[in-house]
Amino acid sequence: MEFTIRNFPSNPTKTLATSGLTTETQGSPMIDLRKIVKIFKNAAGEFTVLKGIDLTIQRGQFVSIVGKSGSGKSTLLNMITGIDHPTHGQVCVNGTDLYTGKNESDRSLWRGRNLGIVFQFFQMLPMLSLLENVMLPMDYANMYDFDERPKRALELLTLVGLEKQARKLPLAVSTGQQQLAAIARALATNPPLLVADEPTGNLDSRSADHIIELFDQLVREGKTVVMVTHDSSLTARTTRNIIISDGELIDETVAKTLPLLKHRQMLVVTKKAERMTFQPGQAILNRNIHVDSFFMIAQGVVEIVLQGNKSEDLIVSRLVPGQYFGEVELLRGDKSIASVRAAADNPVELLALKRDDFYVLLKESPLTEETLEKVAQQRLEENRSLDRRGHSTGVQKDYDETSLA
Ligand SMILES: Nc1ncnc2c1ncn2[C@@H]1O[C@H](COP(=O)(O)OP(=O)(O)O)[C@@H](O)[C@H]1O
Ligand SMILES: [Mg+2]
Repeated sequence: MEFTIRNFPSNPTKTLATSGLTTETQGSPMIDLRKIVKIFKNAAGEFTVLKGIDLTIQRGQFVSIVGKSGSGKSTLLNMITGIDHPTHGQVCVNGTDLYTGKNESDRSLWRGRNLGIVFQFFQMLPMLSLLENVMLPMDYANMYDFDERPKRALELLTLVGLEKQARKLPLAVSTGQQQLAAIARALATNPPLLVADEPTGNLDSRSADHIIELFDQLVREGKTVVMVTHDSSLTARTTRNIIISDGELIDETVAKTLPLLKHRQMLVVTKKAERMTFQPGQAILNRNIHVDSFFMIAQGVVEIVLQGNKSEDLIVSRLVPGQYFGEVELLRGDKSIASVRAAADNPVELLALKRDDFYVLLKESPLTEETLEKVAQQRLEENRSLDRRGHSTGVQKDYDETSLA
């Protein structure tokens, strides 16, 4: 399949208003979910699928959502698109509150103008050509002049590399091409937000790659893309990855810091960890004190400081979000081997996991324990060699002396 990404079609009617941006909505997040609960009721009883989800997605982000089958991914997307409604909670998309003072038909019209939706099984109308399929949303939302619609549809098919297939029926092209056409259709009304539910789930890896390249291009053009996927190789290509486990979101810092945990374990850490903030330059841990937690960095830069001979500070490392500290003390002994502070330029946000919860976690995840052991060992050795050069680390001499040799 020939595939090239062209520049976005020139569009004289593309204004702030048609791209969904007005001066009021420009500063607001693209998606803002507050305390979303979704309960399905049937003969067997009630089933809570979403258990109080808070999620904010900014404009221009490329977000992947992953989770086991049945964890609530599609249900969550249906809240964002207005296809289904939450049992409790508030949904704001592109500055519009979807479920307050709106009925189904208001939402349907709003959807047609504000977002493009891409499904796993394309859902093209089989008796219409690709070009006609792409024109449908313009007809439905009554956007663009009647005469302009075929031209715009062809521009969009050209954008996805399908100009030669425009007159063909969906079943006359490959599955990868059907999905590209479905994306062209999702872009028909030039929505600022694209929502895709396992868009590559039914494609070979090469076609999947093309879809992601196209999404990436659209994000660079200023669109927001939210994509549910099973494929972990695709999540590396998005700017943000959200994990849902059994109807609850895993803290993104936990997922980034402890990637070897199972989703269920990440969720436990999410619930147990305590959030702490520190002002720029503020001390977080002094040297030689009892360390009672494992600290994960959510925001800002943390400096690990050794005291020099003439009491000048030596910054031995600067840790950034996704990194951690405290593991050396929890694994080797309990006194801090260096002092820790927030860097001077930004506040620091940490997630702290209490000692006992940390030990339980290591017991349940041998792979995580192995990784943390290696890092702790490496850090001790580094500090030890600095110590020989005249800096005091305060490492307690009775801790595992042999392993430091
Ligand atoms: N309309 C519905 N009525 C009852 N239960 C549903 C309905 N839709 C989804 N569920 C249930 O909600 C759970 C989450 O479903 P879904 O959001 O489709 O998961 P995912 O997309 O992550 O695989 C599943 O257990 C599913 O059976
Ligand atoms: Mg699903």
